[in-house]
Amino acid sequence: MPLRRLQLLCALAAIAACSGCRKPLPEHGAALFLKDCAGCHVQRPGQKSYVPSLTGYFDRKPKPTERQTRRIIRYGGRYMPPFSKRLSSDDVDDLIAYLQRSPSH
Ligand code: HEC
Repeated sequence: MPLRRLQLLCALAAIAACSGCRKPLPEHGAALFLKDCAGCHVQRPGQKSYVPSLTGYFDRKPKPTERQTRRIIRYGGRYMPPFSKRLSSDDVDDLIAYLQRSPSH
């Protein structure tokens, strides 16, 4: 994604952050996902990985709850690093909106 578009998305996210009127921005979540998550969670074909794919994550049965998803993003897992210091709770909302919207990444 071109840098200017990323900057625009961040500016939009900042404007949208006013309290009580903020809607999650899946486009911003997509930019964050590329930057912070894709390195582990997007697998190249044929590559073996210890990281679970997030393709169709919210289509799983039983469906993961937002609460448990937010928790693993904030605090990490056994191998996944915690992101609570790097991402604001708005960022995490945007990431979740992105995961909910995209059946495949
Ligand atoms: C260093 C590699 C790494 C990075 C970076 C990473 N993850 Fe993970 N993630 C993992 C691993 C490994 C697991 C499996 C749980 C564990 O062992 O920690 C996991 C699990 C998850 C799960 C639960 C998946 C399941 O099958 O239950 C979610 C949701 C998730 N990660 C989202 C994210 C998001 C969103 C980001 C970016 C902010 C991210 N991860 C960044 C390695 C990573």
